[in-house]
Amino acid sequence: MDLQDFVKLFILVNLLTVCKAYNYTTYFYQQKVDHFGFTMEDTFIQRYLVNDESWEGNNGPIFLYAGNEGDITLFIDNTGFMFDIAPEFKALIIFAEHRYYGVSLPYGSKSFSEPKYSGYLTSEQALADYAELIAYLKDNIPGAELSPVIVFGGSYGGMLAAWFRMKYPHIVQGAIAASAPILQFTDITPYEDFAKVVTADFAKESAECVEVIRKSWSAINEVTADDAGKTWLSDTWNLCDPLVSEGNVTDLKYYLMNVWTNLAMVDYPYPADFLAPLPAYPIKVVCSHLTDSRKDPKPLLEELFDGLTVYFNFTGKTECLNYKQQADERLNDQGWDFQACTEMVMPFTYDGVNDFFEPSTWDLEAYSEQCKAKWGVTPRPRMAQLIYGGMEIEASSNIVFSNGLLDPWSSGGVMWNVSETVVSVIIPEGAHHLDLRSSHPDDPQSVIDARLEEKHHIKKWIDSYMELVSEDMI
Ligand SMILES: *[C@@H]1O[C@H](CO)[C@@H](O)[C@H](O)[C@H]1NC(C)=O
Ligand SMILES: *[C@@H]1O[C@H](CO)[C@@H](O)[C@H](O)[C@H]1NC(C)=O
Ligand SMILES: *[C@@H]1O[C@H](CO)[C@@H](O)[C@H](O)[C@H]1NC(C)=O
Ligand SMILES: *[C@@H]1O[C@H](CO)[C@@H](O)[C@H](O)[C@H]1NC(C)=O
Repeated sequence: MDLQDFVKLFILVNLLTVCKAYNYTTYFYQQKVDHFGFTMEDTFIQRYLVNDESWEGNNGPIFLYAGNEGDITLFIDNTGFMFDIAPEFKALIIFAEHRYYGVSLPYGSKSFSEPKYSGYLTSEQALADYAELIAYLKDNIPGAELSPVIVFGGSYGGMLAAWFRMKYPHIVQGAIAASAPILQFTDITPYEDFAKVVTADFAKESAECVEVIRKSWSAINEVTADDAGKTWLSDTWNLCDPLVSEGNVTDLKYYLMNVWTNLAMVDYPYPADFLAPLPAYPIKVVCSHLTDSRKDPKPLLEELFDGLTVYFNFTGKTECLNYKQQADERLNDQGWDFQACTEMVMPFTYDGVNDFFEPSTWDLEAYSEQCKAKWGVTPRPRMAQLIYGGMEIEASSNIVFSNGLLDPWSSGGVMWNVSETVVSVIIPEGAHHLDLRSSHPDDPQSVIDARLEEKHHIKKWIDSYMELVSEDMI
């Protein structure tokens, strides 16, 4: 990206911010591409967003959102909790974009072209970016020299929040790690658990709903076995790109797996637009269409399409079903795909019996070959565990792990109190990081309680830090 592009982008980003729900100002910080070696000196521009409406200086707290796998504006729109509580703490809010996402691309359009450019996309480098950024902000914002820092994050951002506190306890005083599956790695969490939670969310609505989805895979295989059937399904489901190959059918099924999974993640109690615009309790609405599993394959797939419509066409404005796009396009599949091929290797299996997916096993060898072919890299399935500790996190402190039981990622979450200061908050009626969303009249009591608990911990962390700081000053 040359300077001119950069300026254009800057203006565009600032124009876009005007119409968002929360106000923020966009800034950029020059980061090292490699924080851990001394052999190269490239730098890149990291974007971060600032809201200082509650900030009064005076060493008030900094609330940092540890950006995850997407354009940072997606997360600022969906993390109202930080804005809700900032006035009470007089906090400065910072949303930092994760490297290789949004506009924070170390090598511009070449960032994913070959390993020598993409290889600096790791969680360790991202955490070091956040540490550098905090140090810079504290040095440069008047009244922030001694500010305590609380890090927030949801999902992979929650993993980063927890790991940030574990690795940089001198820089961040506490972490709210919402729906953070830090245990979703090799030989820690059973590989089938995730799919069971997804299925249970649909089973809560009706057994028939589960059965329709379970039977849909063989219906798709049967119908698309010949060209006429592929054409029929392409027309009936208004696909943007017609099915012309087995590879297309595989992609379509992969899209469906993601739709059912995403619905379980965002089964929120009110209409929301996180992964897609959806009604309140979307699974209930989807299942209201999936009522008869005894149908022949074609009618069954017509019925399935009515349910699917809730996900991809709730606005009524979708012209065709794009099975290549699974969610809000601000979530960058490319970056996450690369991370899943390097350090974030999360094994899943599906059996079609205890879950409603098409059966598939975990084959690391085949997976590695795909990664090698696609990105030129070899996965390191035990790397995250080696670097961050897996289950053995007793030595850390000041972390709240929150998990909603509707959220399939709770299967890889920390669901027990690790110590006095590393605690687990369970939200039975919660989906994926519901607690990080802004408060809402339709919130279940359990998420209201969870937010109070989180606030209580934040206050404690800040108070004990300020005590230390004031002792030092005397
Ligand atoms: C954004 O700023 C404007 C002008 O200061 C203010 O009126 C508005 O309430 C702010 N929006 C939010 C969501 O706080
Ligand atoms: C469908 O498959 C064909 C043949 O493999 C491929 O060229 C095309 O890109 C695929 N379409 C989509 C939307 O992926
Ligand atoms: C989306 O919904 C609208 C309104 O019901 C409908 O006209 C349109 O065909 C739907 N789009 C698709 C791809 O089915
Ligand atoms: C953790 O401890 C708190 C306080 O004792 C308790 O309310 C909460 O239920 C515990 N969490 C778990 C997952 O056991």
